[in-house]
Amino acid sequence: MAFEHILVTIEEALGLIQLNRPKVLNALNRAVMTELGQALADLEANDAVRCIVIYGNARAFSAGADIAEMQAATPVDMLRQNWIAQWERLRQLTKPTIAAVSGYCLGGGCELAMACDIIIASESAQFGQPEINLGVIPGAGGTQRLPRALGKSRAMELILTGKFIGAQEALARGLVSRVVPVEVYLEEAKSLAREIAAKAPVAVQFAKECVNKVFELPLGEGLEYERRHFYFLFSTEDQREGMRAFLAKRPAEWKGR
Ligand code: CAA
Repeated sequence: MAFEHILVTIEEALGLIQLNRPKVLNALNRAVMTELGQALADLEANDAVRCIVIYGNARAFSAGADIAEMQAATPVDMLRQNWIAQWERLRQLTKPTIAAVSGYCLGGGCELAMACDIIIASESAQFGQPEINLGVIPGAGGTQRLPRALGKSRAMELILTGKFIGAQEALARGLVSRVVPVEVYLEEAKSLAREIAAKAPVAVQFAKECVNKVFELPLGEGLEYERRHFYFLFSTEDQREGMRAFLAKRPAEWKGR
């Protein structure tokens, strides 16, 4: 399917989605989010794709929801369009998602990055939830995911003031997993994606699901959830192959079943 506001390419086992509204710093309007939702569904359904990378450009991952489009909306418009539900699609994906972030990563853009499984940042990345300066609040997960990443006090400070944090603080606080020079941030994200794509797919899917349950379940239920998935993996050919290959001191050949 051809898209107008995003570019989608497949590079071997990687599905790559580039947000492509550079003139407005990749502001996320309804059309972008609809296209993004469709692209994610396509990549999820494509068995050749094992990992998805979402990125913008060096200046902006995304400066957030499109303010021009939103400014005259009524509550009923927002409810009917319910375009924020598109962010939810990322949460439903079984395949791992990496946000490669450079420059502005604000508002809905920050929420989009946080809905991914891993964030790789360039040195120029800036994260923030500036909705308070527009007379609103984050609406696509910011009040929920930012405190989980930064801790309550710092997240509260950012959300109540609209201030941004830089890549190094994001790294120190665990919002992102690495910071690299701007010239290589996308390649670094792709290289990580290739590494993950080369692992046993069912185990990758279960590992992702179990880690994400940390944010949803009490510890006892999370441990139970993990244990059941661990046991279930003993029904896969890849478990037999992985353990046999280790003992035979040879690389494993994954079947994805
Ligand atoms: N929506 C629509 N257009 C936007 C935009 C946005 N979120 N962010 C930037 N733009 C546009 C600007 O209007 C400008 O367009 P023109 O050239 O036509 O004037 C262009 O992108 C470049 O932006 P600036 O000239 O402002 O660039 P700058 O370098 O001076 O400033 C910035 C960069 C600090 C990111 C500034 O653009 C800014 O503050 N943007 C808005 C950030 C924001 O408030 N995001 C939250 C949106 S609400 C939200 O996301 C709700 C939610 O939770 C889902």
